[in-house]
Amino acid sequence: MDFNPAAIGRAPGRVNLIGEHTDYNAGLCLPLALPRAASAAVAPRPDGSLDLRSESFEDPWRGNVEDLAPGTVSGWAGYVTGVLWALRQSGLDVPGLDVRVDSDVPIGAGLSSSAALECAVAVAVAGLLDLPLSEKVRTRLAHVCVRAETEYVGAPTGGMDQTVAMLATEGSALLIDFDDDTTRDVPLPLAEEGLTLVVTDTGVTHDHATGGYAERRQECEAAARALGVASLRRASPADLDGLDDEVLRRRARHVVTENARVTDAVDAIGRRDWPALGLLLDASHLSLRDEFEVSCPELDLAVVTAREAGALGARMTGGGFGGSVVSLVPEERASAVTTALDVAFAAAGLAAPAHLTATASGGASAG
Ligand code: GLA
Repeated sequence: MDFNPAAIGRAPGRVNLIGEHTDYNAGLCLPLALPRAASAAVAPRPDGSLDLRSESFEDPWRGNVEDLAPGTVSGWAGYVTGVLWALRQSGLDVPGLDVRVDSDVPIGAGLSSSAALECAVAVAVAGLLDLPLSEKVRTRLAHVCVRAETEYVGAPTGGMDQTVAMLATEGSALLIDFDDDTTRDVPLPLAEEGLTLVVTDTGVTHDHATGGYAERRQECEAAARALGVASLRRASPADLDGLDDEVLRRRARHVVTENARVTDAVDAIGRRDWPALGLLLDASHLSLRDEFEVSCPELDLAVVTAREAGALGARMTGGGFGGSVVSLVPEERASAVTTALDVAFAAAGLAAPAHLTATASGGASAG
């Protein structure tokens, strides 16, 4: 660091265990925070100017805090300035700043590197403004970061990534209910049970600001409108027959069944019924592949391969169209699974995938 930070924030990436494309449908999801995180160090500048630098990207970004406006800054600096803009919109007096960011969350891997960055910046600025990191402030900062992403960057994502980055507890997954905006820790004693979560980045990158993600969100909204409900959370499996449009029916079926799978997964974890949890991961993947159509050949290959090599269950995780697969694996099969994935990707002429072990980590912290 070539400057003296006044405050520091740190926030993790995440892997979603189950509950995909449910957050923007007022649904349920069950992510956990990763041991990989972004950090941000901030120091005030008296003249309102901004000087942003990243360890990962060469170009610094300079501007003025008064001039920030949605849609004007792209790339990594867009997430940082978006949070500063959204914090100001929420009524906080954010001054000019030096900001230095760094991260070891893989970028474009579906592991929420952008939410980690947003939350790290939000926590650092909160520290500068002497806001204590209470649960209430964490929730408020998560909302600020969602605004940064949806209104300023223009990626129409839900709130799962920012919520888990701000509120996760070490050793637990976080059950998030987007209907009433509540969360609950779900202890995940995997190591004790001889199990591990292997996360495999296919190397296929995705961008939720453009393309299929926004289209899926619109389809879900159209399905809810056609059913006359405020959100797909209010739709039952029987209601789906009332949808004439076959594509909308399949999209809605994914969301309705996925919410039920999240509830079943929480029950399975509570009973320590790991084969049942594995089957729910498998079913989630099939639904995302066939009904919601957000998988891709590389994700499907990774899921099938992990399963054949001994995983209890496996699924794509995150928004899809690329990114990562999460596999629930008995510890003694972990290296067989990663080797099988490397071999299968090489045989298909694909670049070697990257693996990491997901242990349920804590949420954002100051310093
Ligand atoms: C991305 C978005 C999340 C969520 C997932 C799909 O990660 O950022 O809000 O919608 O996709 O579950």
